Amino acid sequence: MTDAPDALWLQWLLQALQSAQAALLQTLHALGLVPTLHGQPAWPWAWRLAGDTLLFDLGQARRLAITLGLLTLALLLAGLALAWRRPRLPLLALAALLPLLAPWPEWAAVRVAATPASFHASPTGFDARSIAHGQQLYRQLCVDCHGDDGRGHGPLAARQPVWPPNLAGPLLWRRADGDLLWHVLHGMHDARSNQPSMPAFAGRLSADDAWALIDAMKALAAGQMLRQTGQWLQPVRLPAFSLRCPAAPGRTASTDLRGQRLRVMVPGDTAPPPDPRVVTVALAPAGAGAAWPLAAGTDCQATDLAAWTALALIAGHTADAAALAGTQFIVDRAGWLRARSAPGAADWQEDDLVCRAASTSFPSTSTSSAAGPVPAAGTPGNDGLGSLIARMDAEPVRYVKGGVVH
Ligand code: HEC
Repeated sequence: MTDAPDALWLQWLLQALQSAQAALLQTLHALGLVPTLHGQPAWPWAWRLAGDTLLFDLGQARRLAITLGLLTLALLLAGLALAWRRPRLPLLALAALLPLLAPWPEWAAVRVAATPASFHASPTGFDARSIAHGQQLYRQLCVDCHGDDGRGHGPLAARQPVWPPNLAGPLLWRRADGDLLWHVLHGMHDARSNQPSMPAFAGRLSADDAWALIDAMKALAAGQMLRQTGQWLQPVRLPAFSLRCPAAPGRTASTDLRGQRLRVMVPGDTAPPPDPRVVTVALAPAGAGAAWPLAAGTDCQATDLAAWTALALIAGHTADAAALAGTQFIVDRAGWLRARSAPGAADWQEDDLVCRAASTSFPSTSTSSAAGPVPAAGTPGNDGLGSLIARMDAEPVRYVKGGVVH
């Protein structure tokens, strides 16, 4: 295993590759050279440059970085030669020589198959309503093959030319979101037999439906990984939902609370006391509607019932959303869901931190997971929540998606 994701230059390189290709696509689109598909410009080539392989092949990544550096230098020299007459010939000769000297990486290490939607970005913002809508569609259209839990054991699975993949693992995070969109709308072919494998849903689903399905599948996968391993192996954001905060009427969505630590409470048997270290957001009990009065000790109240559905999926309660009652979540300042307590638990425990730095980036890297609570300067109290907050602050989430740190 490599320590590649820790290398700043590599993160920068991958970001640069991604942004350069996205900028190229926008330019082609502005010039009218590529069509719009599913609301966004379509990538015109069957390949794109990507970091997925480079993360595991540092040698190729170095070659690519040096080659790009030399090509930039060659362009600069050529520009200089145009502007400056006397040393023009030697400058041009040097500019022509540099690409020949460059240690070009292997093509296979830097290119991956692309779809026309490879650079499409999800418009949903991981919204609770989108997750709830997607879950409904998933139950109608996808369970027969992919199964309730996404692991690919639906009743029709065995009859497919290839077994449906496990969607309840890291697969959805390895793919570009746009490629997932494409596969849901336009289906897939088995590479070996060239038979249709995953059916196409473009006739039955809009692009918005497909984006909603992608959100729902990610929520489902997060919940299933939590069930299997006790952790959110891929970091998950708190879904966006609308809320009201009597003391801060300007805040109307959970995303308006970014920058603060949140405690999200699902109504259950016991309501914990107020705590100044966190902004407490309560979900409305099912059927309560927006008129539900704010419970003592809460700062804000969700006005969106879909928040419950979405968090139930993320917590692994796939079939029984009611089982979420009494659960609490802690969200860090960047909006990541970090901890989840068991319903009715008296205090926070070490094990409640289910999104940890060591498990969130890449399989190798950091080994800090076994450490106990980290005593940090200014630790707000030394109870369970205090240690949890200190640990959370000491291990910020680094989110790597399709080879790019976000
Ligand atoms: C008739 C069975 C069947 C149904 C119904 C079905 N799938 Fe699939 N799905 C498959 C198979 C088989 C594959 C594996 C395809 C392959 O790798 O060639 C797959 C693959 C996928 C993948 C992985 C894509 C990737 O990039 O590797 C996703 C995501 C997915 N399906 C989502 C869905 C969604 C969402 C629905 C419902 C709208 C759905 N599937 C309905 C059979 C099905």
